[in-house]
Amino acid sequence: MPATCVFGAQWGDEGKGKIIDGLARDADVVVRYQGGANAGHTVIVGGAKYVLHLIPSGILHRSKLNVIGNGLAVDPLKFIEEVEGLRARGVAVDGSNLRLSSAAHVIFEHHKRIDHASERWRGVGRIGTTGRGIGPCYADKAARTGLRVADLLEPERCRRRLAAALAEKNALLTQVHGEAPLSLEEQLERYMHLGEELRPFVGDTGAEVRAAYRAGKQILFEGAQGAMLDIDHGSYPYVTSSNTGSDGVAAGAGFPARWMDRVVGIAKAYCTRVGEGPFPSEDHGADGVKIREAGNEYGATTGRPRRCGWFDVLAMRYSLELNGADGWIMTNLDVLDSFEEIKVATAYEVGGKLHTQWPGAHVDLADVKVRLESAKGWKTDITGVRRYEDLPALTRKYVEWVEKLVGVPIVMLSVGPDRDQIIPRAGLEVALARA
Ligand code: GDP
Ligand code: IMO
Ligand code: MG
Repeated sequence: MPATCVFGAQWGDEGKGKIIDGLARDADVVVRYQGGANAGHTVIVGGAKYVLHLIPSGILHRSKLNVIGNGLAVDPLKFIEEVEGLRARGVAVDGSNLRLSSAAHVIFEHHKRIDHASERWRGVGRIGTTGRGIGPCYADKAARTGLRVADLLEPERCRRRLAAALAEKNALLTQVHGEAPLSLEEQLERYMHLGEELRPFVGDTGAEVRAAYRAGKQILFEGAQGAMLDIDHGSYPYVTSSNTGSDGVAAGAGFPARWMDRVVGIAKAYCTRVGEGPFPSEDHGADGVKIREAGNEYGATTGRPRRCGWFDVLAMRYSLELNGADGWIMTNLDVLDSFEEIKVATAYEVGGKLHTQWPGAHVDLADVKVRLESAKGWKTDITGVRRYEDLPALTRKYVEWVEKLVGVPIVMLSVGPDRDQIIPRAGLEVALARA
């Protein structure tokens, strides 16, 4: 801090929600800059569980400003649902602590239908999307046919732009996907009504965040998904449709890249992936199942069982370097408490060749066989530990071994889902200077 980007360094679900909520105590502003309600960020406070999809994970701290930047694909229905869900649980949410960019793109009903229909067309090549309309919305943004939040607030503009969009989308829905067309009048009524509900939250969030930074406020940028799902640098085409790391902040929040002070990655002590696509260190055997059960690895957005496997050193080094991480946070370390042996992927074999560094886009990750090395498990419950020196010697040995393999300092460990289950490490002050 004062401007820190915290991003997922693996395939998503690294525990970003929990960590951002914790770090938000020392921040003034928490900003989401990409993705949409495909995200599911879990925050557990004193046993009460909150799953946030669009709203930043600072929302449980009353005095913090939470910002949904221009880089998001916002489903107004989900936005309102989430605001109301929080209010019903006594969390104060209004235009004073939650801001929504007028330039964020809007996810409409047709985006969600097309997301599902495109997946059906892809058949075995499907991506396994969350079905939240993310890809089709970002596609329209790039094609310059999308509508932005500001458009929902201007009846004439909304009618003109939605009519133009639906003319094409209805042709696609009916002629290609064999679905019923959507009625312009019905859609207009529904979304303009939603627009009115959004109005109190809407503003020029880029200007608001820049002004806060200039005023010396602490800003925390909250990534969604993970570096390996980045549209440019991830395992394309099995990715999401945005830039998920620090690479997404400038465009997605209107915050100059050179103003960023610190970048911190988050990764589990093992790996998970939800959806299709290559996952080199996936464990298809009993250990994968054991990780899933011990870590309760089921999607926070779709409920799908997550694919589980071992920590991947090559992917981690790549994602931390790519995003310029000063340090990283290792989460879910406690999930490995009962393992006799803990494995780590330290090299890839592809076509008889051994890679010890990320092999680049010309290698198909589906062809990779990983080389695993092992550490001895500590077989102790560490969920109650709060100081690094109180961890079992074997746990520290594992952490320091992985840290050395990755080559970037681990600044914090997480040993349980609750807000307070963290272990700071030397270096945290450096990575989160002035926090
Ligand atoms: P996010 O998308 O990165 O915010 O992560 P998710 O919320 O989708 O998934 C992380 C899951 O792990 C959630 O169920 C969290 O409550 C849980 N969690 C976070 N940190 C820890 C931890 O250190 N240990 C354990 N056991 N669970 C954790
Ligand atoms: P958080 O923020 C894990 C995955 C989907 C699919 C691919 C594309 O909770 O870490 P999309 O709906 O974005 O077009 O799907 O990306 N995916 C995630 N996986 N965590 C997420 O978010 C994800 N958001 C999308 O499963 O493989
Ligand atoms: Mg998640």
